[in-house]
Amino acid sequence: MSAIESVLHEPRVFAPAAQTVANATVSGMAAYEALCAEAARDYEGFWARLARETLAWHTPFAKVLDESKAPFYTWFEDGELNASYNCLDRHVEAGHGERVAIIFEADDGAVTRVTYRDLLARVSRFANALKQRGVKKGDRVVIYMPMSIEGIVAMQACARIGATHSVVFGGFSSKSLNERVVDVGAVALVTADEQMRRGKALPLKRIADEALAMGGCDAVHSVIVDRRTGGDIDWIEGRDHWMHELAHAQGETCAPEPVGAEHPLFVLYTSGSTGAPKGVQHSTGGYLLWAAQTLKWTFDWKPDDIFWCTADIGWITGHSYIAYGPLALGATQVVFEGVPTWPDEGRFWQMIEKHKVTLFYTAPTAIRSLIKASDADAAVHPARYDLSSLRILGTVGEPINPEAWIWYYENVGGKRCPIVDTWWQTETGGHMITPLPGATPLVPGSCTLPLPGIMAAIVDETGQDVPNGQGGILVVKRPWPAMIRNVWGQPERYQSGYFPAELGGTLYLAGDGSVRDKDSGYFTIMGRIDDVLNVSGHRLGTMEIESALVANPLVAEAAVVGRPDDTTGEAVVAFVVLKATRPQGDEAVKLANDLRAWVGKEIGPIAKPKDIRFGENLPKTRSGKIMRRLLRSLAKGEAITQDVSTLENPAILDQLG
Ligand code: PRX
Repeated sequence: MSAIESVLHEPRVFAPAAQTVANATVSGMAAYEALCAEAARDYEGFWARLARETLAWHTPFAKVLDESKAPFYTWFEDGELNASYNCLDRHVEAGHGERVAIIFEADDGAVTRVTYRDLLARVSRFANALKQRGVKKGDRVVIYMPMSIEGIVAMQACARIGATHSVVFGGFSSKSLNERVVDVGAVALVTADEQMRRGKALPLKRIADEALAMGGCDAVHSVIVDRRTGGDIDWIEGRDHWMHELAHAQGETCAPEPVGAEHPLFVLYTSGSTGAPKGVQHSTGGYLLWAAQTLKWTFDWKPDDIFWCTADIGWITGHSYIAYGPLALGATQVVFEGVPTWPDEGRFWQMIEKHKVTLFYTAPTAIRSLIKASDADAAVHPARYDLSSLRILGTVGEPINPEAWIWYYENVGGKRCPIVDTWWQTETGGHMITPLPGATPLVPGSCTLPLPGIMAAIVDETGQDVPNGQGGILVVKRPWPAMIRNVWGQPERYQSGYFPAELGGTLYLAGDGSVRDKDSGYFTIMGRIDDVLNVSGHRLGTMEIESALVANPLVAEAAVVGRPDDTTGEAVVAFVVLKATRPQGDEAVKLANDLRAWVGKEIGPIAKPKDIRFGENLPKTRSGKIMRRLLRSLAKGEAITQDVSTLENPAILDQLG
């Protein structure tokens, strides 16, 4: 406790209110420490207890953790369960069939409510439809859909029949979609005719058609299309099927297929520092346990809560805290199709008021853009809305700067609601380092302490612990149930990327730099240590953007770095060398716009460089290595103070600055 007491002496520390502590599932720091002690004393026993209490098992497990094939760990391996049964049937069987599972608000504001009984029937029908289309246990299904009830139905239906889904964010280009379909070896693709954003229809089926025509997709025998807008689309007879027609021809019962706890529930692609995006493979048992357990702890979820996570189902946050965690608990949640800025920037606050949201989870980038908007226009300021239903606020995806934290705390939470700054990753499956609302004193900008059972630490380049107050590399020292199981089809990449030999081969390398407070031991995340950018909470590999640029016939060479950005956290800056002479003036502006559009088409709009600079060359060492350190300084507009004597071509810096 002394560590925590010392934190309380810091200027901006927000201790939880007595009432929050009194009603919380983890009530007070002593309760948190008792859970940590339980895990330290009997690691396997701790996890086994949670897995038995939180999930319904078709076949109980006897084995807990198997480390014999480290780092290919298994959890609860001889147990069997079905994720969809855990998310739907068991709540209906317990008498909660009439409880609302999803309050869906469309882009245009239309609201649809789906009970657990309805959702079970819809998932079962669609699961039967998948089976009828020949999709079997172990097959992979790619889901390329808007935020929708149907998207969640598709994920749950795959889980119900033991198929492994891979959701691809609806903002990705046909090329990105093609790469993922090919890599995961999908047999079916579920999409929608169009998606609605800001009152405009955007094509999805057309992009899916392009992706499948790019080659390598011969295994895809079925394309199943949700009719969202009724807009015009092309149709390939025999391959393409309407989702509603397939589903309506089916019965509304479908026995859930029990799978082993290690059966891959899904593969989700994410950027790394090298190579193509990697398919992060997650398990069924360990993953589902943590998605549910963390929602209970981190958001102190209770049956009366209305939970709203604003993420998209195309990202891990939408998997764990929309499609699985809330449903596994039998929660009521809001699912939103649209964007925070349309029809105006008050949309989030208006929806919180309308649906009486109690637990709200969003990204720092959204908060920063809404701060700007409400500074400019008082009509969209949160003060104009009744946000008194809110109980707990959360953030995820990137560090939240203390100023944005304080604004969120004061203006959205009315100085009443704890903020849980949750640090985690696609690979971790669920929250790892986060405050607990009824226990942890909050320090703006710090994700505070690891959850019970999570052995996070900070080490140096050799894997040795560093003392508090000294920055280093964030690692997790012991395997945990929700961790990544493999990089789909690339076990060497999994092993060398996440358990590097330089750190001893057993520490999970998160890829983030971090420091712990001298007194409290609180963690602060200092950003990535590899060549991965974080734009609006989304990971982008600099390599991927560089490859996309170089794929343009005009481009000879490109280097991409990040630059701090007030709204998006980081912005993409590209340094480009053309095959022709360096463009100037209007020509440069036009080419930069063309290349921006090109990257949007190659990867997706999120990857578009904010700034493109042309040079005759890039700053390189005499051995030909691009000096990214210098490019980062140039991108920020900083004077170059580093030693440039090793540069082959120092004059280039003036051109690129
Ligand atoms: O750099 C960290 C940052 O986002 C990375 C993980 O990105 P992704 O796999 O796309 O998952 C995002 C949603 C979980 C991390 O390596 N990050 C995530 N949450 C935080 C964060 N950085 C600081 N504070 C956070 N709360």
